[in-house]
Amino acid sequence: MSNRRPMIAGNWKMNTTLEEAKRLASDITHGTSERASGSAECVLIPPFPWIVPVSDIVSGSEVVVGAQDCATEDAGAFTGAVSAAMLAPFCQYIIVGHSERRHVFGESDATVALKLQAVLRNGMTPILCVGETLEERDLGAASEVVERQLTIALAGITSEVIGRMVVAYEPVWAIGTGRAASAGDAEHMALTIRSTIGAIASEQSANATRILYGGSVNPGNAAAFVQGDAIDGALVGGASLQAASFLAILDAVNQ
Ligand code: PGA
Repeated sequence: MSNRRPMIAGNWKMNTTLEEAKRLASDITHGTSERASGSAECVLIPPFPWIVPVSDIVSGSEVVVGAQDCATEDAGAFTGAVSAAMLAPFCQYIIVGHSERRHVFGESDATVALKLQAVLRNGMTPILCVGETLEERDLGAASEVVERQLTIALAGITSEVIGRMVVAYEPVWAIGTGRAASAGDAEHMALTIRSTIGAIASEQSANATRILYGGSVNPGNAAAFVQGDAIDGALVGGASLQAASFLAILDAVNQ
């Protein structure tokens, strides 16, 4: 049996007003405090300007805060960018390589690797997203794409550090589409991720790294993804914007 702690992370993307963000954070914090402790780790990932108010609301609870992205550098003339160094006082996790960053903003594997190093350099844990497009899946290249993304992102990172990271398998075609991967396909890809980490780092880190599934996770399908041994939780987009559905996914992961 693994001793990896399950995780559920809510990626709010570019959604919520300040009032909605505060209400969502407070409803989720109350919801988790009513549940038994020792359950899945609960991470809220709001847009940048709401990180400070949300971290005030969750402070003292078991809920922690993450960021959706960060710059490759820690400071300097990079107008519009937010560095991991600036996020460090508030965040325990930072998503790197989300498919929207890769495909909408054109981030390369090399940029993702620099961001991952920035997160680690500033003492936080990256949630590294990997996943194939529909075209790549149809070509039978899903495993190859994920292996390439992992190999470039994790180059030069020690096995021990890789073992403390979180990797999210998020097939691009499943994100925001209502069309989740099957639990079997997700499990298969999570096993591919573990064996790739085993080859890059060590068997020990492959067993220690937490792997999440993301892409149209909802209260109805969440339990199936964590039924096998390879997946430790969920990275949730749309369904993380309502406290009730996020908490229902938390309950499903905890069962
Ligand atoms: P979704 O998004 O749950 O809305 O599909 C997941 C994600 O982008 O992390």
